Amino acid sequence: VSHAREQLDRLLVSVPDFPEPGILFRDLAPVFADGDAFHAIVDDLASRFAGQFDAVAGVEARGFVLAAAVAYAASAGVLVVRKAGKLPGEVLRETYDLEYGSASLELEPDRLPVGSRVLVLDDVLATGGTLAASSRLIQRAGYSVVGFGVVLELGELDGRARLGDVPTYSIASL
Ligand code: PRP
Ligand code: MG
Repeated sequence: VSHAREQLDRLLVSVPDFPEPGILFRDLAPVFADGDAFHAIVDDLASRFAGQFDAVAGVEARGFVLAAAVAYAASAGVLVVRKAGKLPGEVLRETYDLEYGSASLELEPDRLPVGSRVLVLDDVLATGGTLAASSRLIQRAGYSVVGFGVVLELGELDGRARLGDVPTYSIASL
């Protein structure tokens, strides 16, 4: 068991019936708030994909925290995949399904050279809709997605099946 996994087991909080009845909410805030744990998860994600990316994309909101730290560790740049309506000018938009309704994510084009290799990070992989939409945005911008990294994967939802052949790494699968 990796040090990162040990830290996760120590600090992960599960909240029943949040945000609605029947949902078991996995709260990573205590993991991010602990210096040793945060260092361990960032190192784990960065080392898994070392040498394979030119930039790191983070998905709003908690993906930003991970992407910034991993990018800094690798002297790579950061791309922000944002919730709809936050970015000015012409943006790329992809819509994805939620349990009820849909949501959209946006990306500013032309921030990296065409062909840049992008690692995409988020906190949790559930149905995979969020990461799949992020991947479509990055590809439409002309970059290649070289990997997906998350702290937690909810394995029973099989979100990784929606992510195709791209290497997908989770520190823990629950
Ligand atoms: C949560 C989580 C992931 C996403 C995973 O974000 O942070 O981004 O759901 O779900 P999926 O794999 O089924 O798409 P959420 O959209 O709740 O918003 P937040 O990150 O702003 O809290
Ligand atoms: Mg999210």
